[in-house]
Amino acid sequence: MTPMLNDSYGRVATDLRVSLTDKCNLRCTYCMPPEGLDWLPNAQLLTADEIVRLVTIGVERLGITEVRYTGGEPLLRRELPDIVARTTRLRPRPQVSLTTNGIGLARMAPALAEAGLDRVNVSLDTLEPETFKRLAHRDRLDDVLAGLAAANDAGLRPVKVNAVLMRGVNDHEAPALLRHCLERGYELRFIEQMPLDAQHGWTRDNMITADEILAMLAPAFDLTPDDREERGSAPAERFLVDGGPARVGVIGSVTRPFCGACDRVRLTADGQVRNCLFAREESDLKTAMRAGASDDDLAARWLAAVAAKRPGHGIDDPAFLQPARPMSAIGG
Ligand code: GTP
Ligand code: 5AD
Ligand code: SF4
Repeated sequence: MTPMLNDSYGRVATDLRVSLTDKCNLRCTYCMPPEGLDWLPNAQLLTADEIVRLVTIGVERLGITEVRYTGGEPLLRRELPDIVARTTRLRPRPQVSLTTNGIGLARMAPALAEAGLDRVNVSLDTLEPETFKRLAHRDRLDDVLAGLAAANDAGLRPVKVNAVLMRGVNDHEAPALLRHCLERGYELRFIEQMPLDAQHGWTRDNMITADEILAMLAPAFDLTPDDREERGSAPAERFLVDGGPARVGVIGSVTRPFCGACDRVRLTADGQVRNCLFAREESDLKTAMRAGASDDDLAARWLAAVAAKRPGHGIDDPAFLQPARPMSAIGG
């Protein structure tokens, strides 16, 4: 029987999030500074073959059923369609999805669909070109909107949209963002900002909370909890909009944590297993692999890494320390 990635709190990791690169072509303020970061040297990045080898171990030996490619910006990896195609050929076939900022998706969506990609999540925090420039330090809103449309046309559905609201920046746009997504059949999720920015500038007071988000939407939409399906391990609490079937999600990672139901494990672009976004330790599969470790050995290391998972992110703990790696290096 396949051993499962169990932790000591009764959770089982079945959802693998793989960061393909820490690089990005945007500079969202909640993630990284305008000048960018010291990117990982190329020699430290897993090669496409190494990524596929580890994903194969996860799927064939450790019970991984969902694989999400993320970054940084995963579309910056030229081998992405090849990596996706090789992932969808695994048995049992995992669900394969992508979280992207959407730049380049207009061009890549057909090839990704052809490679077997099931669906995409795209970040879109604003519909205003000026606000986009202020927030992401690049003038690329049109590329993102074109990427979203192309993903939808290519059948990478449901297309989900992620929006992080920031006080005084884009927090006036919640209803407009929802209207935009409803009109196009995208599922919008508003996300509470987490302390994962490279600049360590997050403050609780500046974070727009799930309660605030719902209050911003209430005058314009009738929202009712969507209890048509179990929430399970989904980070988003979903609400039917004006009776449904369209819905909107709120990911309240900070004020409404879902760590107790977490089914995730992460692989960083430099081949470290992280058992949580906020983990303090990592398990170095890359070095082991490059030193000749067998699949059995790599699987054993991975099992041990997940077994050590803490019960939650601990953001409310007075002793909370932000992870040394920012979101872009961990994998969103
Ligand atoms: P699906 O709903 O299955 O499409 O995926 P998702 O929402 O988990 O994935 P996505 O990559 O779009 O992530 C959206 C947001 O969820 C991220 O910005 C995070 O805020 C949050 N998130 C994803 N994974 C975790 C996690 O392990 N822990 C916490 N606290 N938040 C997470
Ligand atoms: N808090 C919450 N979400 C974040 N993202 C990036 N940084 C943060 C943060 N500090 C989001 C992006 C993307 C997803 C992978 O994570 O908007 O949609
Ligand atoms: Fe790039 Fe995503 Fe970070 Fe924005 S949040 S800078 S799109 S990695």
